[in-house]
Amino acid sequence: MAVQAEAGSPTAQPWWDGAVIYQLMPRSFSDANGDGIGDLQGLQNRLRYLRWLGVDAIWLTPIYPSPLRDGGYDITDFTDVHPELGDLAGLHRLIEAAHGQGLKVILDLVLNHTSNLHPWFQRARFAAPGSAERNYYVWSDSEERYGTAPVLFRHFEDSNWQWDELAGQFYLHRFLHHQPDLNYDNPAVQEAMLQVVEFWLERGVDGFRLDAIPFLFEREDTRCEGLPETHAFLKRLRSRVQESSRRRGRPEVLLLAEAIQPMDEAMPYLDEGELNAAFNFGLTAHLFAAVAYGQAADLVQFLTELSERDVGRGWALPLRNHDELWLGDGHLVPQEVIHRIRDGLPAARGHWLNWGINRRLAPLLNGDPRPNMALHALLYSLPGMPCIYYGDELGMGDWPGLRDRDANRTPMAWTPERNGGFSSAPDPLLVLPPITAPGYDYRVVNVEVQKSLNGSLLNWHRRMLMSRKLLSALRHGDFRVLPSGHPSMVSYVRQSLEMTVLVAVNLSGTGASTQLNLTPWQGQRVRELLWGCDFPEATEEWFVYLPAYGFGWWLLGDAELSTSSKSAAGVASRSAST
Ligand code: BGC
Repeated sequence: MAVQAEAGSPTAQPWWDGAVIYQLMPRSFSDANGDGIGDLQGLQNRLRYLRWLGVDAIWLTPIYPSPLRDGGYDITDFTDVHPELGDLAGLHRLIEAAHGQGLKVILDLVLNHTSNLHPWFQRARFAAPGSAERNYYVWSDSEERYGTAPVLFRHFEDSNWQWDELAGQFYLHRFLHHQPDLNYDNPAVQEAMLQVVEFWLERGVDGFRLDAIPFLFEREDTRCEGLPETHAFLKRLRSRVQESSRRRGRPEVLLLAEAIQPMDEAMPYLDEGELNAAFNFGLTAHLFAAVAYGQAADLVQFLTELSERDVGRGWALPLRNHDELWLGDGHLVPQEVIHRIRDGLPAARGHWLNWGINRRLAPLLNGDPRPNMALHALLYSLPGMPCIYYGDELGMGDWPGLRDRDANRTPMAWTPERNGGFSSAPDPLLVLPPITAPGYDYRVVNVEVQKSLNGSLLNWHRRMLMSRKLLSALRHGDFRVLPSGHPSMVSYVRQSLEMTVLVAVNLSGTGASTQLNLTPWQGQRVRELLWGCDFPEATEEWFVYLPAYGFGWWLLGDAELSTSSKSAAGVASRSAST
């Protein structure tokens, strides 16, 4: 993948190379004005926590005016802030404050559709068929058009078309029926959305997560996903963004694709001149399948293919997010992988929504912190940008039974106080109910309590992120899979000019021992980094034992780490008092 340089420094890595992204839903994160709804000021008040945790960037799900029938992905004004969250001045203050804390700000950008309450759509309904205004959206006289495009939200919709009485035509909606798709065949639409991008660039955002990006164009007899026309538009978008950054003398911004596609189909988004990064949802599915069955073979195969593609730095790596854990219909990953997850994770049963599992990470893993840590030990050491979904660093629970995907979107738990310290509002006003489910009650699972407990999941995440910061190879290094010879173990090497790091993770609930072939490092010193202890030197048959869901990050050779990095474990055990 081509690496773009920061403005004024032709050789620098772009800021997002290996960055850790923290995704949050502003409405559920922190409420500053006591109305029961999280807001931008609340988020600003929590930036110090995020810096303490050690993430590099925050990704905000949509903050725009919206009737909120799809968590804000149904937008009525692309260039303003939802009044419940704040206003443009508040966003400006947030961005300044985030930058002051060394954090980048990524906005969600929904290019594919609007709310049906957007003035563009209302105008289109009233306009004459064939007029420029009507053509802002995709219309048809019959529901048969683009009949090969699958219905994505199949639990809510049974067609991609919705009849509009006023217009006397059907309109296309690849998502919910109140989210009409914009018509990218209309140059005015392309230009209008490029203006939207320009608007936010002028306000100093550092990146965009591009929602539902494969669906911009439609053509007959295709799935209407990732068409050449879509790629052509994205190239236009990229060059406009580059041009705008250059003009303002600012570093380039991150363009991150949400394309739930197999790697082969997601890769073109990372082509020269197109987007900077894409989520690797195939990897996410393989990670869950491996831990569900305690078998690593498919994951190892997937990682081997990944290593052969040399685009590691372009992948964003999520475990969970604000949607269901999307597994698809066999197109993203083979059915066998889907079956493994379904059969191997009992907590998934009864929680299928659309094409995936509607649960948060901790409950999906049945509250067991060990597989949770094993998965993160991988996420934090694989090439790319690890993504943390707010609350997952605590092992926060969910509320199955809430509407749609709200089960995964409940308020962040900050303290043991009322409403988990999220809001001072009376309970009925809260955006969603805080978690009080057994095992996940906010009185126990919250930031304040976990900060004070040395062995908490939160302090573990912080320790891992600190260690990652000290290990440049995990951020920028090459990636080579090392055959482990054990069916439950994944092992690989990350190598930069400064250091070589060996990673091994046992994905099963049974201990695993094996011999790794470390011939290329024969005779070199081996230091385990997370607990800070020496191991026997590297040999052709280097013995390693990992307990159930155990893992290790080892430094091979004599690389000098800075004083503070000599024992990441030491740092971590002291960190609890921070
Ligand atoms: C977002 C969803 C949203 C959909 C429609 C997705 O990919 O992540 O939350 O419902 O786009 O905008």
